[in-house]
Amino acid sequence: MIGAYHKPRRLHWMGTPAAQITDEQVSFYRENGFVKVENMLTGEELEQLREYLEEAMQEDSGRSVKTDKNGGAYFRVLNQKVNTWRDHGGMGKFSFHEKFAKAALDLTGSNEIRFFHDHGLWKMPGDSKPTPWHQDTPYWPVNEAERGMLSIWIALDDVNEQNGCMAFVPKSHKLGKLTGINFLEPQNIFDYVEGGQLDDQKPVVVPLKAGSCTFHNGLTFHYAHANVTDRPRRALAIIYMPDGITYNGNGHIVTEGSNLKKDQPFKGPLFPLLVKRHA
Ligand code: SIN
Ligand code: NI
Repeated sequence: MIGAYHKPRRLHWMGTPAAQITDEQVSFYRENGFVKVENMLTGEELEQLREYLEEAMQEDSGRSVKTDKNGGAYFRVLNQKVNTWRDHGGMGKFSFHEKFAKAALDLTGSNEIRFFHDHGLWKMPGDSKPTPWHQDTPYWPVNEAERGMLSIWIALDDVNEQNGCMAFVPKSHKLGKLTGINFLEPQNIFDYVEGGQLDDQKPVVVPLKAGSCTFHNGLTFHYAHANVTDRPRRALAIIYMPDGITYNGNGHIVTEGSNLKKDQPFKGPLFPLLVKRHA
């Protein structure tokens, strides 16, 4: 029905509205390479995403990729599933969600935001290992990731230093792409930093409430503590690319079956365009 009855109302079950990205958050992100955004999910969305991601992590159709199995060395760092949306339609709702992509557009100031891939990232209890300090870009088959690729990391549980919240080194995204770290026998990324460039920067630990998130630039150094609690720490990360990022031709699980050619811009059904800036 249209008319007087159609006035928008905030209903209790809809939970709190999602936060808008403020100018302060944009400046903080550009200066420091990461930013925290509270209440990115409504209470209802959080509940739904928990259910979908639980299901997706169990699914075994072979379209998404589990990095390691229970008992493996990588599993102790992360129980990770790449491209959950390919196994679970409900995950698509979140992995392609316009409000996350719109926030990424605002933070980067780019003209477009394209989906790259998602990860379910659970840090399991029991002999849990920290996620070592690393940058994300060295692992991606892209040219010029320096041009602003980024991730949203959404906490599905309250996270703190006990169960593996994230920590970031401010301004480390300004150092460019360094050597990738071996997660199982981690090198010290700070050994690759020349000339004391980060001497003034202390890592910032970012505890989050469930439903809140951080965004981080693919070049920003980040780390997560081991989970010393008795419950999994559940998170969803979605990786985005601004316009014009091209494929570097290297084999990678996320580009398999994509028919992309070396040095061609990312496009096609596995990498949908999510938002565009209005002229
Ligand atoms: C983690 O969830 O522990 C690490 C996430 C990341 O490396 O982006
Ligand atoms: Ni990372």
